[in-house]
Amino acid sequence: MAPHTAQAPTDQPAERAAWLRAELDRANYQYYVLDQPELPDAEYDRLFLELQRIESEHPDLITPESPTQRVGGQASSGFAPVHHAVPMLSLNNGFTDEDIVAFDKRVADVLHSESVEYACELKFDGLAIALRYENGRLVRAATRGDGATGEDVTQNVRTIRSIPLKLKGDRVPRLVEVRGEVLMFKRDFERLNARQREAEQREFANPRNAAAGSLRQLDPRITAHRPLSFFSYGIGELDGIEMPGTHSALLDWYGELGLPVCAERATVNGAQGLLEFFRRIGEKRKSLPYEIDGVVYKVNRREEQDRLGFVSRAPRFALAHKFPAEEAMTELLDIYVNVGRTGAITPVARLKPVFVGGVTVTNATLHNEDEVRRKDARIGDTVVVRRA
Ligand code: IVH
Repeated sequence: MAPHTAQAPTDQPAERAAWLRAELDRANYQYYVLDQPELPDAEYDRLFLELQRIESEHPDLITPESPTQRVGGQASSGFAPVHHAVPMLSLNNGFTDEDIVAFDKRVADVLHSESVEYACELKFDGLAIALRYENGRLVRAATRGDGATGEDVTQNVRTIRSIPLKLKGDRVPRLVEVRGEVLMFKRDFERLNARQREAEQREFANPRNAAAGSLRQLDPRITAHRPLSFFSYGIGELDGIEMPGTHSALLDWYGELGLPVCAERATVNGAQGLLEFFRRIGEKRKSLPYEIDGVVYKVNRREEQDRLGFVSRAPRFALAHKFPAEEAMTELLDIYVNVGRTGAITPVARLKPVFVGGVTVTNATLHNEDEVRRKDARIGDTVVVRRA
């Protein structure tokens, strides 16, 4: 990596601005995409302010891709509809080992294959978007909507620091529509909610809602202050370059272009490989910095994907393997008191048995009398059970 120098190669405003942009782009990429910051914050701020100053003195030098242009433009009265030339589909779900074995068998049967290769990735709990790059420049971003028509959220997406406004490297195509998930990291969600609390504003229920609410703000200046992230995992339209032969090669190429790709991915063979990936990720789930609700398996070879095709609104070559839901509703049947060996008294809720988080729950502690009063728990209530 070239060493960083604060010295401009020139004092000419146009060249100086171009150099500052390249430095800031590089710093953003290291910070938001690679998660390996190299430029100290104070230095970043200094370069940013200098670029802002040059641009205000020479407005003709402003480019749409300048790092200063991520602050959010004008508020709008609504989002324009965007037609998806390649529909944005959903995934079929599997829950049990048997579901996964059956999926692999169906795929192998259609392909007449002994052992199918799959790309495994995470199922991010956010919302799907499509990013359209023409000659390497981000020209449009759209939500999934109903799959055929989404909403134009370009102004909001431009404020997401990990999404490049300009693709890099020497394999930039004439047109590529990158698909992926906008999400909010857990730590960013906690911070946002703390800020909401201080401002006496409504808190968000979970990172997914916070991400969705932030992306669909009519005022992009608000979105600019919401810490959103992005991971790439799919493709829509493509022109000017040959489609990579495998899904894993597609994601490698995205990495080269400077797009964020999650490192938690693997290529495996057969149902056994899929289930091992699921277990490994299940063990890691809690320590991941973002929320996931399962993993996704995709037949790796493009040519095999094409042979498998689609059934109604989902590809036959992919499956989401979901973690068991961690929340469910049930009825509060009774409240009794448990006396522990030390004499400690704990109120306990007796529940109508409910399957949640992979187990059947029949009792839940209410901790103490204050908690019972705070929750205003009464026999016959419908309650939400969450496995912690
Ligand atoms: S692929 C053709 N990959 O899950 C398949 N989707 O039910 C298109 N999602 O709307 C989707 N992580 O919002 C794919 N690694 C991943 C994903 C993923 C999360 C979401 C996405 C989509 C929904 C499908």
